[in-house]
Amino acid sequence: MLETRDLHKSYESGEARVDALRGITLKILPGEIVAVTGPSGCGKSTLLHILGALDTPTSGQAYLEGHPLHSLNDDKLTALRRLKIGFVFQFFHLLPTLTVEENVLLPLLLSGRVNASARHRANDLLKSVQLADRSHHRPHQLSGGQLQRAALARALIHQPSILLADEPTGNLDSASSTMVIDLITQLARKEKTTVVLVTHSEEIARTADRRVALVDGRIHS
Ligand SMILES: Nc1ncnc2c1ncn2[C@@H]1O[C@H](COP(=O)(O)OP(=O)(O)OP(=O)(O)O)[C@@H](O)[C@H]1O
Ligand SMILES: [Mg+2]
Repeated sequence: MLETRDLHKSYESGEARVDALRGITLKILPGEIVAVTGPSGCGKSTLLHILGALDTPTSGQAYLEGHPLHSLNDDKLTALRRLKIGFVFQFFHLLPTLTVEENVLLPLLLSGRVNASARHRANDLLKSVQLADRSHHRPHQLSGGQLQRAALARALIHQPSILLADEPTGNLDSASSTMVIDLITQLARKEKTTVVLVTHSEEIARTADRRVALVDGRIHS
């Protein structure tokens, strides 16, 4: 499903060079829920961005369902992202001028795939995340937990094979965090979505099938 081999990522800015990933080799099975943990700056987001085809490695290989992310051009990466990957971020990134329902449909709007069945799925997802009665509201009318649940529905609208979540509960209180994590787990199990979830919370990491702990750009073994 997802595999990396000796993945390296370095950032250069002027004289300074930061080695964010220093040889990550891992395999994630279809349907697995994996928690990525580690101290600030250890490379968690960098890894997630490469797995999500948002960034490319400096060296090494990364495969998504056999597609070589390290050697595809930007157009191919974008196409793969729109088809196969869903993202949830710490700051929800909903568009303020769109309703909740329109935000959920956005990934499909971008690729011209909004039809009656997509609208039906959007409404089903909004029900699943307990926001059916908020579908015509705008983001500023929602609480943090509700915004993240809307973002989760949006991330799943196109039935991605992989859901990548970067500290999805980083801005939520503990009740909302629990709810968002429970929903991620439930929906991923139901739809057989593979999940890679970055978290600072021990409690959340324990709910995953497996944990990958990073230290200084490497997997801590
Ligand atoms: N665009 C960039 N340019 C230069 N350095 C970067 C860039 N992005 C990340 N880095 C550096 O790479 C290292 C890893 O960053 P990354 O964001 O992956 O860490 P993280 O584990 O997600 O941390 P946090 O828990 O604080 O979110 C850090 O030292 C960071 O400063
Ligand atoms: Mg990060």
